[in-house]
Amino acid sequence: MSPPLDVEVCADLSALNRSSADWLEREIRAAVAARGSCSVALSGGRSPRPFLEDLAARALPWGQVRFFFVDERCVPPDDPESNFRMAREALFEPARIDPSRIHRMEGERADRDAAARDYEALLPAELDVVVLGIGEDGHTASLFPGSPLLDERVRKVAAAFGPKPPPWRLTLTPPVLLAARRTVMITAGKGKAQAVARALVGDAPVKDVPARLARQARWILDREAAAELPR
Ligand code: 6PG
Repeated sequence: MSPPLDVEVCADLSALNRSSADWLEREIRAAVAARGSCSVALSGGRSPRPFLEDLAARALPWGQVRFFFVDERCVPPDDPESNFRMAREALFEPARIDPSRIHRMEGERADRDAAARDYEALLPAELDVVVLGIGEDGHTASLFPGSPLLDERVRKVAAAFGPKPPPWRLTLTPPVLLAARRTVMITAGKGKAQAVARALVGDAPVKDVPARLARQARWILDREAAAELPR
């Protein structure tokens, strides 16, 4: 019998973003209270921007927080497609995060494997908080359906080639995601409903639906993204 799911369905996008920032604030404060620090790994894409902007306006113990990335596109850090650029604009600059507390994946490097290995050395043994998104194909991080990285058990960071442009990325691998103390999956919109249902119910393999890796996470959805979940 698998443990119960931890799913919050929000009335609309505004409620989803507020609830996501609330969850992140609670988990960051809890980690700092328990261990004196908090490591947070952020995903990219379009979804995180509004809740990161909300979080940036809150008076959190930013001096005890270190930021990492779940994945990064292999583009320069000032590229519109850069996950770092999105987080810098939405959170790091508005909250005046000390740059020494931000660990950027160097996706722009020609030697992607070297960049991945260098990033592995920066990671803590366990991330305190991981923020994930889900694609319509069921990917999460830059772990796409059928990817050989879904069988990776040794490397913590790897170069990934996927169908979502830009194709080359650096990504955390399943062992790192599964070792995280607290993970939240945040998504909205009817385009994600099927992927959410395939990730949370039924028995599709992780190879087909990588977001199943986050099955035990906290899922914060809007009604549209939750539409295909059993009532
Ligand atoms: C990326 C993300 C990716 C994202 C999903 C959802 O770099 O593309 O890390 O995993 O979370 O593709 O993206 P949206 O939030 O834009 O729908």
